[in-house]
Amino acid sequence: MPNINFINADGKMLSVSAPVGSTVLEIAQENGVNLEGACEGSMACSTCHVIVDQSYFSLLNAPSEDEKDILDLASELTATSRLGCQIVITEHLDGLVLHVPSGHRNALLG
Ligand code: FES
Repeated sequence: MPNINFINADGKMLSVSAPVGSTVLEIAQENGVNLEGACEGSMACSTCHVIVDQSYFSLLNAPSEDEKDILDLASELTATSRLGCQIVITEHLDGLVLHVPSGHRNALLG
C-alpha cells in the first residue's frame, strides 16, 4: 500500500498508509489531519485545500475546471494547490508529500 506524507503548518510531518482508490481528504480525516471537508467532496467549500510538493505535482491528473474555480476561493493558494477531495491515490503516488495550509476558507459560508 502506498504511503503519503502530510506536513502540517507547524512543520511536523505525518506519514500514513494510503489505500489505493481513497481520496486524500478521506485519508486525512482517518488520520486526524486538519482538513475539514465541509462539503464532503462535492467541490463546493475549499476546506480540503492542500499544497502538493513541487516534485509530485506533475504526477497528478490535471484539475477539472470546477476544481480550479473552487481553488480560486482557497486561502494560501499556490501554483501547486489542489483539493484533497479530488486527489485519488494510485500506486504511483507512493511517497506523495502534501503541505496542509495553516487555515482554510469555507466557500459554503460565502
Ligand atoms: S471537501 Fe469541499 S471542496 Fe473538497
